[in-house]
Amino acid sequence: IKDVLILAIESSCDETAASVVKNGREVLSNVISSQIALHTLYGGVVPEIASRKHIEKINQVIQAALSEANVALGDIDAIGVTYGPGLVGALLVGVAEAKAIAYAAKKPLVGVHHIEGHIAANFIEHKELEPPFLCLVVSGGHTHLVCVKDYGEFEIIGKTRDDAAGEAFDKVARAIGLGYPGGPKIDKVSKEGNPQAIAFPRAHVEDAPYDFSFSGVKSAVLNYLNGCQMKGATWNQADVAASFQKAVTDVLVENAMHAVEEYGLKKFAIAGGVASNSALRSAMKQACEEREIDFYYPSPIFCTDNAAMIGVAAYYEYKKGTRHGWDLNAVPNLKL
Ligand code: KG4
Ligand code: ZN
Repeated sequence: IKDVLILAIESSCDETAASVVKNGREVLSNVISSQIALHTLYGGVVPEIASRKHIEKINQVIQAALSEANVALGDIDAIGVTYGPGLVGALLVGVAEAKAIAYAAKKPLVGVHHIEGHIAANFIEHKELEPPFLCLVVSGGHTHLVCVKDYGEFEIIGKTRDDAAGEAFDKVARAIGLGYPGGPKIDKVSKEGNPQAIAFPRAHVEDAPYDFSFSGVKSAVLNYLNGCQMKGATWNQADVAASFQKAVTDVLVENAMHAVEEYGLKKFAIAGGVASNSALRSAMKQACEEREIDFYYPSPIFCTDNAAMIGVAAYYEYKKGTRHGWDLNAVPNLKL
């Protein structure tokens, strides 16, 4: 059988990325141009700057992805691209680029949902993983518990009511003086701190056991810092970070395990930027071992935004017959 090669493009937030993926699971190249250093100056992603950087970098990134994979554009079977959700201006750059390439090279165009991409990241290093399984998607913009019924077939069984998990990490990191991007920094300093030092709340949403709420724990951290300041007391950065991280991971583990049991699934995966958090990974690993559930997680490079995961998702969509027309547009609030 002939190999299927996907050229994938991702530009939904602050990484300009392109990848070539073979037969859905083999990553031939994974090129990422990160804008993190640029946005760090402003303490977060500035949408217009992101769009402008994408337009500047995207051709070089695609060229690098094709040359690293040693594949000519003519040999590509389809162009996959993230068309939502994300920052509209950022998405438009990738979508316009993908449409132009698909048109000029006469290739089919396959639009991909960003979250479907994050979930699909698990297929890259776990060749044996197949649906159905439960997946917790935790990123800067999303906190979703998703039942993956089949390739490209999802049921959202829980989500955050306010902040995304990564958003909470970023806001708390800023408050305790760690700067942007907060997740990896909290992860690092927490290793020096005591997760039991401060009792931050574990929020549950009434009558919605699989939903999340992180604005309360974020406020609790801010209140704690204010309280210390008013008393003229000092606080320990590593202890605050570790205690906050523990409060967030406890709720993620509890709700996810509740859902796995309730839905009778034997496989559980995590995805998205926060899935690279070391405390979350080890807590989930232990919780799954106790329940004899197979636990899957991508390497950190496939957790944060990348185009390889989009290529994997695009492959399964392509096989199902998904094709997008020349009217494909960016959809900032695209539903899964
Ligand atoms: O998936 P991603 O790259 O972009 C979105 O789709 O949002 O996720 C970025 C988020 C940021 O909020 C970042 O702080 C968080 O993932 N993150 C982490 C870690 N690495 C990245 N959060 C906690 N621990 C980490 N090690
Ligand atoms: Zn993402």
